[in-house]
Amino acid sequence: MAEILSMKNICKSYIMGAEELEVLHNVSLSVEPGEFLSILGPSGSGKSTMMNIIGCLDVPTSGTYHLSGNDINQLNEIELAKVRNKEIGFVFQSFHLLPRMTALQNVELPLIYSGLPHSRRQKLSEDILVRVGLGDKMGNLPNQLSGGQQQRVAIARALVTEPTILLADEPTGALDQKTGAQVMELFEEINRDGKTIIMITHDTGIAQRARRVVNILDGYLTEADSSNW
Ligand SMILES: Nc1ncnc2c1ncn2[C@@H]1O[C@H](COP(=O)(O)OP(=O)(O)OP(=O)(O)O)[C@@H](O)[C@H]1O
Ligand SMILES: [Mg+2]
Repeated sequence: MAEILSMKNICKSYIMGAEELEVLHNVSLSVEPGEFLSILGPSGSGKSTMMNIIGCLDVPTSGTYHLSGNDINQLNEIELAKVRNKEIGFVFQSFHLLPRMTALQNVELPLIYSGLPHSRRQKLSEDILVRVGLGDKMGNLPNQLSGGQQQRVAIARALVTEPTILLADEPTGALDQKTGAQVMELFEEINRDGKTIIMITHDTGIAQRARRVVNILDGYLTEADSSNW
């Protein structure tokens, strides 16, 4: 099957005053449609740097990155933003919901510029909220929802535009173990329905809920050996 994401020999350096600090070293990664991949590594290993590049929030210093046929190095800022909006649905540790908007309004937000009529946007948002198990909480504000429910709203918001990849950065980091496990069950369901998921985490137990794990350590990426799990 054709890969949807292909990184070859990616390096990323940050300029710190007169120094250049390389934090990703020759990273190569291929992801095929329908995969559920986790990137596992300790603090400072380069996870957020990887996430920013995968999510087209930042560009590599060298190496090539193709996402759904787009050569990321060839794009200007505006084109990069377009690819990001179309291809990537983001889920963050701290949910990032707008506090004065209901669950439904939060989910509808990414569709505002879609050109779809309001009734259609609302229907799509309602359907996806039902899908994540929040059919009875659509009118609640974020502070009227539990942490796990807020993360479900954020997941619904990430999915409503039908992105190619769901990209999650420590999605269970702010949740207790049981609630985190429920969010992982939802990810597994979403993946079973065909969605490609890339999840970044420092938590081995959470990482192993994915079907494939790659390790990142000091900016080097290695495929995990799953044979002894
Ligand atoms: N904007 C920046 N400028 C300079 N150095 C940076 C910058 N962002 C990250 N770094 C450095 O790059 C390395 C990797 O950082 P990164 O944020 O990717 O780690 P991480 O794995 O996400 O860590 P954590 O789990 O703590 O979030 C670290 O040594 C960090 O200090
Ligand atoms: Mg980080």
